[in-house]
Amino acid sequence: MWMKVEFLAFPKAFTGNVAVFVGAEKQLLATAEAIDAAADGAVTRALEAGRFTGAKGQTQTVLGHSGDIARLLLLGVGKGQDLDARAAEELGGVVAAEANAAGHTAVTVVVDPVEGSRLSPGAMAAHLALGVRLRSYRFDKYKTKDKPEQKLSLQRLTVVLAAPADARKAYAQLEPVVDAVFLTRDLVSEPPNVLYPAEFARRAKELTKLGVKVEILGEAEMKKLGMETLLAVGQGSGRDSQLLVMKWMNGPKGQAPVALIGKGVCFDTGGISLKPAAGMEDMKWDMGGAGAVTGAMKLIAGRKAKANVVAVCALVENMPDGNAQRPGDVVKSMSGQTVEVINTDAEGRLILCDAMWYAQQKFKPQAMVELSTLTGAIVVALGHERAGLFCNDTELSNRLRAAGSGIGEKLWRMPLGPKYDKLIDSEIADMKNVGGGRDGGSITAAQFLQRFVQDGVAWAHIDIAGVAWSGKGDTITPKGATAFGVRLLDRLIAENYEG
Ligand code: BES
Ligand code: MN
Ligand code: ZN
Repeated sequence: MWMKVEFLAFPKAFTGNVAVFVGAEKQLLATAEAIDAAADGAVTRALEAGRFTGAKGQTQTVLGHSGDIARLLLLGVGKGQDLDARAAEELGGVVAAEANAAGHTAVTVVVDPVEGSRLSPGAMAAHLALGVRLRSYRFDKYKTKDKPEQKLSLQRLTVVLAAPADARKAYAQLEPVVDAVFLTRDLVSEPPNVLYPAEFARRAKELTKLGVKVEILGEAEMKKLGMETLLAVGQGSGRDSQLLVMKWMNGPKGQAPVALIGKGVCFDTGGISLKPAAGMEDMKWDMGGAGAVTGAMKLIAGRKAKANVVAVCALVENMPDGNAQRPGDVVKSMSGQTVEVINTDAEGRLILCDAMWYAQQKFKPQAMVELSTLTGAIVVALGHERAGLFCNDTELSNRLRAAGSGIGEKLWRMPLGPKYDKLIDSEIADMKNVGGGRDGGSITAAQFLQRFVQDGVAWAHIDIAGVAWSGKGDTITPKGATAFGVRLLDRLIAENYEG
């Protein structure tokens, strides 16, 4: 949502809604202390009255003290040594939630130096502002009744600190994150009657404005390329399948790119292997991988990364129909390998194998990172806290995990191996699209994908089925589409493939 963000030096006096830092064990930081002194100990009295201790993320409101402050929010920042970039963003998320709950349209946050923190006040202010923005997202375009309590009220954020110029500079670097994350959240939140493959591709085409080269392949072109497994998934749908190809080649000339691959099943009914009715509406976000990859491209281009990055998203709709593929069908992938389709609901791997093969043939990438809401089994294994990481290269795996832990998108490495691989051998084709039963379902899915990785390519598959959507939300992510992966992929590039 739109918001005006300003970084200013200390004013003569504070007015309006003001948030100030309190450290662990009720330690008033400079501004809180000054306000307390000017207000005859009103802050100290409030601290005595409740269980607020100043632990990270705690808040307490102080009303009825002197001065022009309408509402004073004490914001617990905890211990300085725990206050890193992610923690600063979470503090921003807390401020946004409080302001919107109270119906405030403007809020001022005072960033006092916190002893022991490795973050400079400028970086702290910038990350805090980013957290305010990331939390202030709502997908309400289909609500036609004007209910103020359903709208976000906060429109103006002022961050006060001694060195506002530092904060402005740091925030300018971070701000592209907001638009990129919001693009992904929009794509993932849209209902499936609105966001079908061609409409997804049309929205991605807007990235052209940032200098991304966008190419969209239709069914006829994919047929020529031999992408039969991808097309077979979409053949029961009235909507045409699309292959979305994006290029950002702003790195060293001749350097092999990193390829990002996304699963874009705009709706997954399961096909003829139909899913049960309960919860099927969730399968509108089965394009979360493609959504994250598209947002990552927006972010990489938005901050003009000096890197070579290409993206390939397979966009389809998996529907039951007279023309839909059947369990038992044998189809040939672009790689030439044949697949026996045992379960039409294991469709993600069928579209990804062709997208991966295309990316490798066309771009000869040094590394390939693929994101998909691939299996329910990964949700059973890891819940909603971490995405599953499958990787043929320990260096790439470590780079991904480091990139993710810095910004709070956590990964857990899962195993691969020949014994698992054997489970997808077929009696009549090169492989089948499901392993024996449900056991190790995320691993057999990853093994299927690995059969389409060419020699010498560092490859990672990230199963985001448990993290692409949040039923309850957290400090910097409202409930709904999380955009998990956008910042992860951007940091992976920034920290390892740039410059
Ligand atoms: N899109 C689903 C996986 C999924 C499940 C994503 C829950 C998000 C939340 C995928 O296409 C699917 O249906 N997978 C099947 C595979 C099975 C048929 C081998 C599954 O996980 O049940
Ligand atoms: Mn499915
Ligand atoms: Zn699916």
